[in-house]
Amino acid sequence: MSSRATDRLARPMSDLRISVTDRCNFRCRYCMPREEFGADHRFLPKTELLTFEEISRVARTMSTLGVRKVRITGGEPLLRAELPKLVAMLAEIPDLDIALTTNGSRLGALAAKLADAGLGRVTVSLDSLDPAVFRRMNDTDVHVDTVLAGIEAAATAGLRPVKINAVVRRGVNDASIVDLARAFQGTGHIVRFIEFMDVGLTNGWRLDDVVSGKEIVERISAQAPLEPIEAAYDGEVAKRWRYVDGSGEIGVITSVTQPFCASCTRARLSSDGHLYSCLFASNGTDLRTPLREGADDEEIAGLVRSAWSNREDRYSQLRSERTRQLPRVEMSYIGG
Ligand code: GTP
Ligand code: 5AD
Ligand code: SF4
Ligand code: SF4
Repeated sequence: MSSRATDRLARPMSDLRISVTDRCNFRCRYCMPREEFGADHRFLPKTELLTFEEISRVARTMSTLGVRKVRITGGEPLLRAELPKLVAMLAEIPDLDIALTTNGSRLGALAAKLADAGLGRVTVSLDSLDPAVFRRMNDTDVHVDTVLAGIEAAATAGLRPVKINAVVRRGVNDASIVDLARAFQGTGHIVRFIEFMDVGLTNGWRLDDVVSGKEIVERISAQAPLEPIEAAYDGEVAKRWRYVDGSGEIGVITSVTQPFCASCTRARLSSDGHLYSCLFASNGTDLRTPLREGADDEEIAGLVRSAWSNREDRYSQLRSERTRQLPRVEMSYIGG
């Protein structure tokens, strides 16, 4: 049994976000590289993806170093064939909370299978209920109603409360904030509004496009009064607010206006097996090569521990003109 890994800023490694594919059936403008930024964006061939066995081995090893929560992401994770099998393999690891972030398009078909396999919780991305705005944000032929049906399927399968993530971009979907909040008020689902981030290099981010968490709360509260509540756990990314009338809660994720690097405990594993210590990192630690060259669990644990113990990332706190110029990977590759 290994001891817990901590980084140079004394932050433990307690969450692991696993990207299982870099592909997606949406082309959200805030996430996916687009043709106009160069046609050389390529998706990974299958042989470069970690197998489920490899992913589970890394997760098991990292659980011995302190990881207590894994979140399966992508791209769109439900495009990866037989994903419930991976969930079942992860569910065999002791003391591990298993969550999934999805765009919801395939959740109607898969929610029950995922819950049966041992998935604990699901977060569905949904940026607007207005079909035209949804299309503008997410650039997909999938209809909003399909995503809503996915959310209901998840709740029916017991994956409650369902969290709903909306990235807010001024002038694009900020008129949808209040509608989204009101639509899920009283349902038990929790809508979380996310400040549009400068992740990746191709989404045309400008500070002017960010709607602050403060403004989001004010806009909702003007219609349905809110009051702040305590975080559900240490290092929770979302700030929670509940409706004064008891009809539920919302969250705001203020990565731009109030960064939370000081309590960031998240490691990220890309679909081709590189370990990243920050969403904004440009380089990761290759775990796939040693895995395929026969490294044992101790060697893998050593590589992870050494990467984490050298970590001093706090990009969102340091954001500046200088850091904006640095190379970094795309969100669709590293996983939300
Ligand atoms: P819970 O376990 O339900 O609390 O989930 P979570 O809020 O940790 O995870 P989720 O995937 O729902 O995160 C929501 C969004 O917050 C992500 O899609 C990102 O936009 C943002 N986010 C999450 N983690 C980080 C992080 O480490 N750094 C930054 N800058 N943003 C993050
Ligand atoms: N800013 C904020 N959140 C983002 N996501 C992707 N790109 C961005 C961005 N630029 C998050 C969204 C989405 C999840 C998969 O990743 O929450 O729902
Ligand atoms: Fe796909 Fe999610 Fe990125 Fe949208 S945000 S393109 S749904 S991975
Ligand atoms: Fe963590 Fe990096 Fe996000 Fe800061 S910017 S919260 S260090 S992932």
